[in-house]
Amino acid sequence: MGEEGVIEKIAGPLVVADKMRGCEMYEVIKVGEEGLMGETIRLDGDFAYIQVYEDTTGLKPGEPVIRTKAPLSVELGPGILKNFYDGVQRPLEEIGDKAGDYITRGIYVDAIDRTKKWNFTPTAEEGEEIVGGDILGEVPETKVITHKILAPPWIHGRIVELKEGEFTVNECIARVQTSDGEDVELKMMQKWPVRKGRPYKEKLDPEVPLLTGQRINDTFFPIAKGGTGAIPGGFGTGKTVMQHQLARWANAQVIVYIGCGERGNEMTEVLEDFPELVDPYSGEKLMERSSLIANTSNMPVAAREASIYTGITLAEYYRDMGYDVAIQADSTSRWAEALREISGRLEEMPGEEGFPAYLATRLADFYERAGRVKTLCSDSEGRIGSVTVVGAVSPPGGDFSEPVTQNTLRVVGVFWALDSTLADRRHFPAISWLRSYSLYLDNLREWFNKPSSPDFTVQREEMMALLQKEAELQEIVQLVGADALPARERGTLEVARMIREDFLQQNAYHAIDSFCSLEKQYLMAKIIRQWYDYASEAIEHGIEIEKLGGMRIKDAIARMKYVPSEEFREKYEEIIRDMKDEFEVIKRKEEGG
Ligand SMILES: Nc1ncnc2c1ncn2[C@@H]1O[C@H](COP(=O)(O)OP(=O)(O)OP(=O)(O)O)[C@@H](O)[C@H]1O
Ligand SMILES: [Mg+2]
Repeated sequence: MGEEGVIEKIAGPLVVADKMRGCEMYEVIKVGEEGLMGETIRLDGDFAYIQVYEDTTGLKPGEPVIRTKAPLSVELGPGILKNFYDGVQRPLEEIGDKAGDYITRGIYVDAIDRTKKWNFTPTAEEGEEIVGGDILGEVPETKVITHKILAPPWIHGRIVELKEGEFTVNECIARVQTSDGEDVELKMMQKWPVRKGRPYKEKLDPEVPLLTGQRINDTFFPIAKGGTGAIPGGFGTGKTVMQHQLARWANAQVIVYIGCGERGNEMTEVLEDFPELVDPYSGEKLMERSSLIANTSNMPVAAREASIYTGITLAEYYRDMGYDVAIQADSTSRWAEALREISGRLEEMPGEEGFPAYLATRLADFYERAGRVKTLCSDSEGRIGSVTVVGAVSPPGGDFSEPVTQNTLRVVGVFWALDSTLADRRHFPAISWLRSYSLYLDNLREWFNKPSSPDFTVQREEMMALLQKEAELQEIVQLVGADALPARERGTLEVARMIREDFLQQNAYHAIDSFCSLEKQYLMAKIIRQWYDYASEAIEHGIEIEKLGGMRIKDAIARMKYVPSEEFREKYEEIIRDMKDEFEVIKRKEEGG
């Protein structure tokens, strides 16, 4: 079998090549005289269908294609963080340097710098028996992340040499005698095929929340570490702001941000705004613990298709070191559109709205790679790491019935549905409390109801019930006006307004309100609940609801979100005290006549 075929036909990003019998699926192919990078996505007799990651303009039938006999893979090792990649892990800066702009052809650049020396400190010992996933040593990768150098997943043997000092990723740092008696040199860099999940020992139940510091996310619709979530929303409803908030504030150590942009402004968000974000935990740039994958509109669609696999493989690698990793993909609709375009070129039978029938399985397979796991390693206790995946979805016209939203909704654990009516009213985050859900609530209940907040989920259920009641009452109000409602129900409307405005609304741009600790969330909810209890009691005693309207304490409640998390417990006690006093005064006045 030859290793060279010949181009038969070119259709945009898709090239059909003849004389390719024996070629593998997802094998990397160098296409044409220029050696453009591509990957086989369908095999048919002697023909291979290749999606090409570079602009195919000018390519002609008859030009050669060369098999590399390797699957599309990423390079794993120090240097991934702080980097900007395209969808097939080419560093944007370097390809930009080489080609003058981001549109490159036939340029092969290393994903990881081969010349940079890293300071390797061994943590294993010579003579030690190791298996795949064991940590050989460490490298300070950035100001905030220590990179653990892992034994490759397949290895099993004894360390016969372990070095220390400055090395490039391609130099030998250890030698292992495998159980078959082979002598293997290990380097700091490994490769892994992107379309295959990295192995782990065991997937764990989603019992620990990934806290985001966003009240509606944490208290109302929490996501678990290793969980999956979707943020569907129409144009301008706050998907990107939410993704940035999660990237900044979630208690994950490593962030992989996959930006799939279409329009100009989305491109700016990915390449300019994200790198400017400051990590609130370290004060350094968020990039110090992030890797960014950007697909801009001038990049071929095929690279966009590959980008989510590239991203999740990088994430799995840091998970294997024992880190909690969060992936933000903004937006997966652009990825699905790439899939649709390529499927169209393959002349496949189109499914709903032109998307291929396998859209659902592709989405499911992608989200399936999320998880909190016991990693590979010889320690029986194991190391725990996680990959949490959150994808934004941008349904055309904000219509959630379209295929990408529907198929995503079937596989993710949390659905944070953005509502354009809320966004229009400037209620941010515009997450609809009526349409959103979290399937992790049951699994996380025990964690949230820890001794310091035993009624955490009870409070959450109560607030949720009040908001649902409000929605029902509003229908009546529209017909007959609020004044026609009994006092008790007007009290319900008032507390629901408080929940919406004083609890759910959270300003991403406010220095303090941008982040809310879980304790503060709990106490804020408690304050609102206490107000409702006193108010209900007052109403029972015949006190008119108008008398409660002008209460001073309501200002304090409206301002409580601007009190720093560290100072909140004190504030909480003060508010509760003042609230009690004010209600007593009202009651006394009423009794006094
Ligand atoms: N939590 C928030 N706090 C304050 N403002 C917000 C918040 N979320 C969204 N916004 C406002 O909404 C605007 C649009 O948000 P964003 O760009 O995230 O929307 P999008 O859904 O990503 O839009 P597109 O469809 O263009 O990608 C922001 O510029 C900001 O003014
Ligand atoms: Mg956006």
